[in-house]
Order: sequence, then C-alpha cells, then structure tokens
Amino acid sequence: MSKRFYITTAIDYVNGQPHLGHAYEKVVSDVIARARRAAGEEVFFLTGVDEHGQKVQQAALAEGKDPQAYCDALAASWQDLARKLGLSNDDFVRTTQARHKEVVQTILSKLHGQGQFYKATYRGFYSATAETFLTEKDRLPDGSFDASWGKVVELEEENYYFKLSAHQDWIIGHIESNPGFIAPDYRRNEVLGFLKNEPLEDLCISRPAARLKWGIPLPFDAGFVTWVWFDALVNYISVPFALGDPVVRQGLAPSAPPAAPGLLAWPADLHVIGKDILKFHSVYWPIMLKAMGLPLPRQILVHGWWQKDGQKLSKSTGNVVDPLAVIDAWGLDAFRYYLVRELDIGPDGNWTDAGFRSRYQSELANGLGNLVNRSLSMIQRYRNGAVPGGTHQLARETEETWSRAVAAYRANALQEALRHAVALVTRANQYIDQTSPFKIAKDPARAGDLDDILRTLAEVCRALGILLWPVMPGAAEKLQRQLGFAEVNTHLAAMPPPLPAGHLIGEVFPLFPRRDKE
Ligand code: ME8
Ligand code: MG
Repeated sequence: MSKRFYITTAIDYVNGQPHLGHAYEKVVSDVIARARRAAGEEVFFLTGVDEHGQKVQQAALAEGKDPQAYCDALAASWQDLARKLGLSNDDFVRTTQARHKEVVQTILSKLHGQGQFYKATYRGFYSATAETFLTEKDRLPDGSFDASWGKVVELEEENYYFKLSAHQDWIIGHIESNPGFIAPDYRRNEVLGFLKNEPLEDLCISRPAARLKWGIPLPFDAGFVTWVWFDALVNYISVPFALGDPVVRQGLAPSAPPAAPGLLAWPADLHVIGKDILKFHSVYWPIMLKAMGLPLPRQILVHGWWQKDGQKLSKSTGNVVDPLAVIDAWGLDAFRYYLVRELDIGPDGNWTDAGFRSRYQSELANGLGNLVNRSLSMIQRYRNGAVPGGTHQLARETEETWSRAVAAYRANALQEALRHAVALVTRANQYIDQTSPFKIAKDPARAGDLDDILRTLAEVCRALGILLWPVMPGAAEKLQRQLGFAEVNTHLAAMPPPLPAGHLIGEVFPLFPRRDKE
C-alpha cells in the first residue's frame, strides 16, 4: 500500500443554503482529484460538513428544531449537492459522527495531559458569524466592527486556552523554509506579515456549556464544549484515523489496538480553502498538529471569493447564484467548465449571467461542441463513420497542448489547463475553415487530402475528450462515446496511440446545444 494523494475541502457550515462559493471550492478540488487520478496517482478526496457551534445552534432554535435533527436534514441536502456537482469524493465527513467526535476528544485529552491548556477568564467581543473572538485590531477606524462579522456581543467568561505564543517562531520558520506551504504567494506573504508583526495570542478552545450546548464536550471538564474550529479542523485527521491511517493512529493513540489495515493518507497533500479561513489553516492547524506530534500538511491552496454583479453574495439581499438552478438549466459540465475557466485559484471572481451565457455560447457551443460535431459528422458522411488512415496534420499542436495542459493540472493551474485546451479547439476550428473539407469532398481526386483532414480532426477530438475529463467528466464521456469508445479513457499519463485506420465512430449528437435565444 502506498500513500495516497490526500486532498480536502473546507467543511461547510450546514446552516443556510449552498451557494456559488461553496460549489466552486468543491468543484476545483474535484478537478484536482480527478486530474491526479487520471495521471495515475492514488487519491483520497475528503469533503463534508461542519455541524457544531453557536451559528448552527441558533439556526436550529430559530426553526424550533433539535440541533441534531436540524443537522441531519441539512447534511442530507449538502450530500445531495456533492452528488449533483459530480464530486468524486472518497468519504464525506459530518462532525457529529461518532468517529469524528472520538478523535476530537482523544486529542483534547492528550493535549490536556501534556499541559498545553490552561483555564482563564476572558472578556471579549464575539462574532457568532465567524465563530471567533475579535480583538482591538479587528475594529474599523471608527471603533465599530465591520458588518461582515454579523452581530458582535461582548462576553466575559471562563474558558480553556491553548498556548499558542510558544509556537510563533517555528511556524514563521516553517512557512519561510517551505515556500510552497501556502499558495498563492500573496497569501503566504499575508500570513508571514501578520505573524511577524503581531504576537500570537493564546487560543480559546472551549465554550461554556451554559451558553453553548451544541458542541463536543471537553473530556476533562463537563462544564464546557469544544470551540467549533478546534473541532472542525480535526476532520482532516479524524477520517484517516477512523479508516486506520497508521501515521495518525500512531501519533494519537499508540496503545490503541491497530485498526483494520487502512488508508495511508496523512499528511494531507492539499487543503483547499477560501481566503477568509486562511489563519485557521495556516497558523492554528499546523500548531495543533505540531502539539499532537503529527506531521504537517504539505500545502494550503487558497482560493478567492465570488461576487455576483460586483456585489457580495448575500441571501438577505437576494444577490445569489443557486448552483443547482444553473445546473438544471445548463447542465453540470457547463457549470463546472465556467467555474474553472472564469476564475483562477487565487483572486476574487465575479459572476454575471451574461458572462456565463457568452462563454457557453462561444467556447462550448460554437467552440468545442461545433468542432466535435463538424468533425464527426464529416467522418460519418464522407467515410461511413470509419476514421481513415492519413497524416495527423496538427500532431505537433496536439502534443504541445497535451503536455502543457497536463503540467498545468499538476500545478493546480486549472484555468491555464483549460486555456491550452481552448486554444487547440480554436486552432482546429480554424483548420477546418482553412482546409475546407466540404469543398474537397466534392473532388474524388483529393480523397487523400480529405483523409488527412478527417484523421487530424478525429485525433484532436480524441485528445480533447481525455484532457477535458477532469473538468467535464460527463461531456468527456459523451465525446468519447461519439468517437466510438464505449468506455471512457481518462488516462493523462501518456497520449493515446493513434486511432487504428478504419476505427468506427459512434452516433453523433450535439455536445453543447446552441442556446441563441436566451
Ligand atoms: O468557514 N466565494 O464554513 P463556510 C468563494 N465551516 N468561496 C466562498 C464564498 C464565496 N463567496 N463564501 C464562502 C467555514 N466560501 C467553516 C470551515 S474547515 C475545517 C471549516 C468558502 O460554510 C469559504 O471560504 O462559512 C470556505 O472555504 C468554504 O466556502 C466554507 O465556508
Ligand atoms: Mg463562512
């Protein structure tokens, strides 16, 4: 058994409806997971939901529901979203699962036993929206807290604290000596800037049970539950622990009976997260792991935030994009394509319905769809559906596209991978216009030229069908079926061998119907 490429997403708070931002993060993670598998790696892809905390307790209460029943219903709808997004996740974690809670408590007992926690009284300003205490530094120049923190209340309470201050130097050193630990670069610089300029305050890891019941009880003090972030971050190791990952089991419970031979996943290769939760993942989480004696994840990949029409996504103002509605109207492949194509992993993005339509029309319907449809229809019409022998006249361009796109996938440069594929589509459509196979077909003396053109187009379509699979698994499969392959080929490690002369294509149908009227 060898270590798998382990990729995670943030786990979403179950309260509220899934929106474009949640869908984006899950889709880009899925594309990375699929591209790795396609390149021959074994992958473990984890996603899930974050169920504890004040926000969820309040939301359940507002609906007059028991928090567990409330979460059960919502977790089902989030799992359904994962399915509708076509995610190839290997597991789905819910933080209310026994397998997760047990690990959180094991860790708390271990760190408590090591003297890493102390109890103290704290007065501070709490944002339930972000589930975190705010500090003086979070105030705006006028002394107030930004509206994005939601309602901020002043609290004075006794709690348990985790000694972070002792960790400041090594975490700076770790980030400096591992340039790839936080990507993109500007996010890494942001973390370093903050770590070098502000002393790390100790981290409050509990909430009094009198105020918050909906959490994992501290194993050493029944008066408290675990702070939701301490609980949530642990999901990345609780699932490997439950599945028998020896690194995690050795680190946390060396005397526990060994689990069934399980997964080799930890350390994670990639935590994919949004920019708002960078500090939790790049500072708190590594420090927690170091204190537990576990190896650190290899990379934290930070994506930006989507807006719609230049405004923040917001349920209250109705400025939302419902992923399921877009998928219903345009299909999953078009939705996934647009997310990856429009926004590189890093900067913020802006959704407009017009932008979506125009990319659909130009790149999917008139671009890829038209290329495949014209190419295969001609093979059908002029060669009875058999790919002729001949010279692949775009062989060099196709090979270059292949190696560039595969390298881009590997570097998590998904938008760039698509840019290369789109350029090949454009080139091949140009090639049809330049070579005019419709005219050549009328001249029997030029049958050999037509063979070259049809072979070239078949090979380009085939390469695109494989290259695009991580982003558009459904469309890739349809494309390959039309090319006469019953089983989808996802193999990115090497280009496929040339199609045998006489290879029969399948039934031809439009991949991305034109939608001019919308
Ligand atoms: O933060 N655009 O959950 P969450 C892009 N439970 N991404 C967005 C976004 C937007 N407009 N809005 C949110 C939590 N996200 C915690 C995570 S992980 C151990 C615990 C992203 O439901 C956000 O950046 O508020 C985060 O990565 C993810 O959605 C879940 O956000
Ligand atoms: Mg959030």
